[in-house]
Amino acid sequence: MRQTIIAGNWKMNGTRASAEALLGELIPLIANASAKVIVCPTSTALETVGDIIADTNIALGGQDLFWKAKGAYTGQISAGMLLDLGCEYVIVGHSECRGRFGVPEPDFTPTILAYFGDSDTTVNLKLRAALANNLIPILCVGETLQERQAGNTDSVVAAQTKAGLAEVSAEDAVEVIFAYEPVWAIGTGEVCASDEADRVCGVVRSAVAELYGSEVAEAVHIQYGGSVKPDNAIELLAKPNIDGALVGGASLKAQDFAAIVNAAP
Ligand code: 13P
Repeated sequence: MRQTIIAGNWKMNGTRASAEALLGELIPLIANASAKVIVCPTSTALETVGDIIADTNIALGGQDLFWKAKGAYTGQISAGMLLDLGCEYVIVGHSECRGRFGVPEPDFTPTILAYFGDSDTTVNLKLRAALANNLIPILCVGETLQERQAGNTDSVVAAQTKAGLAEVSAEDAVEVIFAYEPVWAIGTGEVCASDEADRVCGVVRSAVAELYGSEVAEAVHIQYGGSVKPDNAIELLAKPNIDGALVGGASLKAQDFAAIVNAAP
């Protein structure tokens, strides 16, 4: 039985003051949660949030990292720096950070968000840097609308999963949290139907099984992300291959995020 893991990805939202207000409301609402709860604030609020949640059942995560330890990498944050702020988790390969072919897609639209040019190679470097520093990566994978319409969902998701895990040992892979986030469902209000989300989470699990065998595949946690809300969380979280949720917009509202956390089976 895998524990449900609910992570809130706050993206580029909030000040330290708004984070404090959000957490002040959230903490009592989820005090008895059976799920593991992670919040991933913007980096400028990490220290403040870390202090506020220090004695609670909420863990801290970063939204991204750079794979080098230090040096002339303007604007970047290393795994060691996230650890220094009390992070235990870090998101890697979010679709908003990926760019197919390493650059923003030529058919860039508001629903295809690929601002930072991450490739399968850089996602893998980030994931390995996280693991090497005892940070648990939340590896995001997911197809664009065009990839889905072309019938390539399963091959894209399997390929991203395997590429993210390149040169990762079975011992480390079992720690990785996967997040299936169909790009077309992110921030659009268009949730993936629960049966289909469950099926594609199964594709991720099968890809893990092909690399490491069924024991590792059955042990890893796979979240669904993309327009998760209180009114669809119970159905999604009840699915056998969905072990949690990576929540964007709804994680900025204490009542909504708490309802999702408390929807864990
Ligand atoms: P939304 O919940 O706002 O669709 O965002 C999902 C997401 O991208 C979480 O990482």
